[in-house]
Formats: sequence, C-alpha cells, structure tokens
Amino acid sequence: MSEFRVKAISQIHAEFSVPGDKSMSHRAAIFGGLSNGICTIQNFLPSEDCVNTLNAMRSLGARYDVLDELDGYGPVNLRIHGQSMKLREPATPIDCGNAGTGMRLLAGLLAGQSFSTKLFGDASLSSRPMGRITIPLGQMGANIETLGTKAGCAPLLIHAAKLRPINYEMPVASAQVKSAVLLAGLFADGTTTVIQPAETRDHTEQMLASFHVNTRRVGNAISLDGGQIPQACDFTVPGDISSAAFWLVAAASLPGSHLIIKNVGLNSTRTAILKVLSRMGAHMIETVHRSDGEPIGDIEIHGTSLTGTTILIDEVPNLIDEIPVIAVAAALARGRTVIRNAKELRVKESDRISTVVNGLRAMGAEVKEFDDGMEIEGGKPLHSASIDSFGDHRIAMAFAIAGLFAHGETVIKNTECVNTSYPGFAHHLGAIQRESSNSADFAMPTISLP
Ligand code: S3P
Repeated sequence: MSEFRVKAISQIHAEFSVPGDKSMSHRAAIFGGLSNGICTIQNFLPSEDCVNTLNAMRSLGARYDVLDELDGYGPVNLRIHGQSMKLREPATPIDCGNAGTGMRLLAGLLAGQSFSTKLFGDASLSSRPMGRITIPLGQMGANIETLGTKAGCAPLLIHAAKLRPINYEMPVASAQVKSAVLLAGLFADGTTTVIQPAETRDHTEQMLASFHVNTRRVGNAISLDGGQIPQACDFTVPGDISSAAFWLVAAASLPGSHLIIKNVGLNSTRTAILKVLSRMGAHMIETVHRSDGEPIGDIEIHGTSLTGTTILIDEVPNLIDEIPVIAVAAALARGRTVIRNAKELRVKESDRISTVVNGLRAMGAEVKEFDDGMEIEGGKPLHSASIDSFGDHRIAMAFAIAGLFAHGETVIKNTECVNTSYPGFAHHLGAIQRESSNSADFAMPTISLP
C-alpha cells in the first residue's frame, strides 16, 4: 500500500501544468469512438479511469493508436478510429474501474444497442447509486439489470433494446446523468430532452458541438435529435481544473507564494473554485488563450491569509469535486465557512462529508457535520495525523495539501487511488515539498511511440 509523507512548507514559487481534464478525456474517448473517422486526441488524461473508458471503446470496436505515452501510465496523445455509431459486441465484460463517469456514460451509450454488455467496477464503484441512470434509461426502453450485492448498484447487465426518446427532468443536478441520457438519445428516433435542476458541467454539449452534433438549449433544458453521427475531429484536452485546485488552494493559503498553472480548462461550469477562492481573499489573474469551444488558459495566484465564506447553493454542482480541498482552505482561513446543499458528496468515491470531517478533526480543525455538508471554524493550527484516503483520490490529495500546513509529518495512507485522476501527483507533491521553482522538476517524462 503506498502512502504520502508530508511536512509543512514555507512557500510555493512554481509554474507548471496539470494533466488533462478527466471529464473531457472520458468524453473524447467515447465521441471519438462513435465518430465517422480518425480523431487525434492530444493531452488525454492517462489515468486509470480514462484509460478504462478508452479500452471499453476499443472492446466495442474503436481501436486506438498511442502516439505518446506518459511514462509508466498511459497514452497522452493518441488516434482513435471511430466506428460511425456502429459498435460491436464486446468479447468480455467491461471493467470501469473506479469511474462513475465511465460507467454511467457507457451505460447510456450501450442502452440502445443490438447486443448485451456487462459493466463492472471496483468496490467503491459497486456501492454507488446507478438508479439515477437506470430509471431514465428504463423510461427510454432500456433493459438494465443491477446485479450488485447492494440494491441498485453495479455490475450492470445491459440487454439489447430499441430506445424511444424522452423528456427527462433530472431530480439531481448531475452531469453524468445528463450525459448518459443524451448519449442514449443519440441512438433513439426523435428528440430527447434533459432538464437539469441547476447548471452542471457542460462538457458533453461542448464536445457534441465539436463533433458537429446539434444540440439545443433553452434555459436548463438540453435537447438532441437521435441518429446524428459525430463527425471526426481532433481535440486537445485542457489541463484539469479539479487537479489544479489542490495547488491553487495551497498557494492561495500561503502568504508570499506565487503559482502559475498553465493551460488549464476554464469552462465557466467548472470555475466556481476560482470564484470561491477570490471571495476568500485570494489574488488571482486568469489569462485566456483560447475562448472558443472549451476555453483554456493560465491561472496565476498570489498567496495571502484567506477568510471563510459561504458556498452558494448554485455553486455546489460546479465545484462538487473541489469541496474536499475547499474544506482544507476553510480550515486554514480565518472565520467560518459554510458548505451546505452538498448531499451528493455522500455518494462520491467515498462519503466525502464524513471522510473530510473526520480527517480535518484528526488534524485539529473545528468542524460541524451536517447531513448535507459541514461548517468549518477556520484558523486553528493543524497538526499532523495519519489519514486514510478510503481509496478516494480526492481525499488523498486534499489531505496531502492539509499536510503542507500541519505541524509534524502527516501520513496519507492508501494513495494508489490518485492514479485514477492525477497520474504524477506524487511527483508534483515532491517538487512542492522541496520548494522547487524549477519548471523542469515538475515536468513529466513522455515517451513517443514509433
Ligand atoms: C462528472 C460529473 C460529476 C463529477 C464527476 C465527473 C462528469 O459527477 O463529480 O467527477 O464528468 O460528468 P455527477 O454527475 O454525479 O455530479
């Protein structure tokens, strides 16, 4: 079992980029594989989660060639051979690993095929609710059995079915559910509409547009006509703002620090973390390099003493993955931070309300737990502790950041899981621990394949 050992640092002066966006990499693999030709994907996230989705598409007929590989991890630049929406029956069940996004999007894709498929995942994924997708897909005519020991959970056995379009009002604000229904809608005759209760990340809509599939948006309703074939295109995945968030919080909370994260995704449905850090007092400059499609740019941050804030209800879906590290920022800030309306955190890779609350308390923070969130009385000095990630990548990384501010040596146990979203996190953490300002120390070795 691997672990991180982290000690306090005095400053961050660094400039580097984080690996590709996880949400966009899953979608690039799926839409590339559905497209009518060869797509070159650059800066794909070579994490276990996304490589599983890529391999799922390969087992459905869409092979890929690796152009460059992140040493020891997987493809960063690749070519996918699209199958013009004609998938073939996979020879074996599909392993989705730890990825809720992979499993839920693939379930949408596979719900309307002429063959059956089984999707399975690890213990964490097998305990996460799948009813949120099997219900709307069932309304479209899909026949999906949940075979898990826990009711309504994976493995999923997706039988062959012919789909009809629906108008679906989602009870939870979930981009995964929206995307699963839209993917299924591509295989249904007629117009499928999904209505979201609040804005969720719109990478599916953005990527459909890149592949020239028409969608329409009226308020929070998104519609798509079935039968459109994604047109092959090349796609460059920006850096993942959810991975950048760990370093942004560290630098923002450390007076005198200066950090630039380069070439990161700045899609407005993902940048609530920047608004929250600004509200907490962080000094930040965003420079946008590309503003069409998925915006990309640099984030420059100057550290200061942060103050607590209240997370607004509409912000929650757009920073749901960043809440563990925002809670760390809150523990370091002066005053109270309130995070409510975030019950979804209980069904992520771990129950992130209890893993965050217990971890912060173990390090000396004052935290109240609620069913739907937490309240943090910041400013108490943190001390080292031994923290279990519970196999949750974002918990491992959030507490590594807390360790950078704690007295003594913090040990994070069970850290292999960070490879599901941030291959190279340990390398970057090492350079931050050494207080390196040399960009070469942050570079990750990439191998070009013949
Ligand atoms: C994701 C959507 C979010 C997020 C997850 C990635 C996506 O989940 O937490 O990490 O790529 O669509 P929900 O749709 O469950 O909110």
